[in-house]
Amino acid sequence: MPIIQDPSAPLVAVIGATGAQGGSVVKALRVEPYRVRGFSRDSTKPATQKLVNQGVEVADVSLVLGNVKDVFKAFEGTKIAFISGGKYTHVVNFDSKTLVTDYGRQSGVPFVDVQAGQV
Ligand SMILES: NC(=O)c1ccc[n+]([C@@H]2O[C@H](COP(=O)([O-])OP(=O)(O)OC[C@H]3O[C@@H](n4cnc5c(N)ncnc54)[C@H](OP(=O)(O)O)[C@@H]3O)[C@@H](O)[C@H]2O)c1
Repeated sequence: MPIIQDPSAPLVAVIGATGAQGGSVVKALRVEPYRVRGFSRDSTKPATQKLVNQGVEVADVSLVLGNVKDVFKAFEGTKIAFISGGKYTHVVNFDSKTLVTDYGRQSGVPFVDVQAGQV
């Protein structure tokens, strides 16, 4: 089933849609009636154009500090967001992901934190 554009279908924001994690989520969403907005910093590159050809709406935005206005705008109308990150602490990169997780939990927005690969 292709990604649909029916306005009644929930709009899903997929961060990193051109990458491995987000790309696999876009693929999985094709089996349900969702609209998908894929986030990318470059709407002209081949990976992004491939998404467009699959029916994905592209938000050309960089999720960085200082870009708050554009980031909020890019999420407008979305009902669900997929954001992937790591869980390790005491490593700068992963500590920042933990901050994002903590923020998500405290935001009041329905939030699911899946930590795969644990034993
Ligand atoms: N791959 C794994 O097995 C795995 C496992 C566990 C956790 N993770 C975590 O999952 C996340 C994604 O991993 P991945 O393997 O999918 O990476 P990837 O294939 O390298 O893709 C990275 C994605 O992030 C996007 N991106 C990078 N900087 C961005 C920014 N400033 N604003 C908006 N988008 C940005 C890129 O989009 P554009 O270049 O199009 O802008 C691209 O779609 C990482 O945090 C990684 O640590 C990955």
